[in-house]
Formats: sequence, C-alpha cells, structure tokens
Amino acid sequence: MSKQTLIAPSILAADFSKIGQEVTDVLAAGADWVHLDVMDGHFVPNISFGPIIIEKLRPLTDAVFDTHLMIAPCDPYLEAFAKAGSDFITIHAEAGPHMHRSLQAIRALGKKAGIAINPGTPVSALEHVIDLVDLILIMSVNPGFGGQKYIQESGHKVKQAASLIGDRNIHIEVDGGITPQTAPLVTSAGADVLVAGSAIYDGKGAESYANNISAIRAAV
Ligand code: DX5
Ligand code: ZN
Repeated sequence: MSKQTLIAPSILAADFSKIGQEVTDVLAAGADWVHLDVMDGHFVPNISFGPIIIEKLRPLTDAVFDTHLMIAPCDPYLEAFAKAGSDFITIHAEAGPHMHRSLQAIRALGKKAGIAINPGTPVSALEHVIDLVDLILIMSVNPGFGGQKYIQESGHKVKQAASLIGDRNIHIEVDGGITPQTAPLVTSAGADVLVAGSAIYDGKGAESYANNISAIRAAV
C-alpha cells in the first residue's frame, strides 16, 4: 500500500515576528506536520531556536511537531524537547558517537525517533539502528539554512533507504530544496514526508500558502 505524501513546512522560513500565526495559517492552508528546525551554531553554522518556541507553539494545534535537532551533543537536550511537545525527535547520525543510545533515549521519553543523515553520510550508516527509528530523514541540502539548492543524488539515497526499511513502518522524510520540481524526484524513490521551507513560506503572506502546498501535492 503506497503511503500518502505528507507536507511538513519548515518554520525556519516563516515570519518569526508572528510565528504562532504563521503556524496556524500554514496548517489551515493544508499542511500536515510542522517541521521545527533547531540549530545550535555548532553542529551547523546557524542558530535558530530552543525548546521554548516549541512549548509556546504546542497549545496552538494538535498537528504533528516534527523536531529536527541540528545540535551536538543532542543527548543533554532530548528531555527538554520531549517535554516542550515534540512528537518526532530527529537527531543527526553525525551529532555524536552514540546514535544507538540517543534513539533508545528518545523512545524511552515516549516520542517517535528519527535519524537524519547529511548529504555526505551513506544510508548504510543506519543499518544497525533501523529497528530503533520511526523516521529516516535524508538531507537534500547541507543543513543550516533554508533556500538552498536540492542536491541531485538525494533521490538515489531515498531508494537506498527504502530498501533498507523493507516493509517496516518507517517514514522517509526529505529536507532541503523541495519544490514542485524536485518533490517528484524523491516521492518516486519512496519518500512520504516532504519538508519545504522557502517553497511554502515564500514571503508573499498566508494567502499564498494553500497554493504553494497544493502545487507540491499536485506534482507528486
Ligand atoms: C536546513 C533545514 C531545512 C530547511 C528547508 O538545515 O533542515 O528544513 O529549513 O528549507 P528549504 O525548503 O527552503 O530548503
Ligand atoms: Zn529540517
């Protein structure tokens, strides 16, 4: 049974002067999940926000909060992001030497566990944690910023992730440079969750969000 494609706008591209409104508007426009890009200025060359933003956004919606931790180390902060209201907590395979233990810790906190790999990291790095995850995140840009260009070979990595997953119930999420043009490249390879920041939060205001979301849906 083919999985429905889920759209997860990244709030990194949203207007942070009214971030609560931006989240409710994008969900009203048809988004499925909210992708929350946490950056520490160490693992990636940018700083975004901490658990407090997630805590303040949580009461606004029951939608899935898909927290993407681009931080190292990640273990000391898992509980805070769980308590703040994350539904998925995704760590990077490159964030430290103990991804197996970190994924166990996320599940022990009662949250769904995700593992992300950067463009330079092979899918085979996930072989020994495949039964500890609910989501694999294939980065199709180098993490740190929105508005970057999709890296062409990401579709090949999605295919590799799909064969590693087999018939397990694990999402394949792709993140970075997703537009109506690049989205079919990854859904045809097996991705079922699409993160999009600048292709949805395009600076033209909430009236454009529904069209931007439908354009991605129509393309896959
Ligand atoms: C990059 C983040 C992505 C990014 C997506 O480090 O993980 O989620 O915000 O933004 P776009 O869709 O504009 O590439
Ligand atoms: Zn992200």
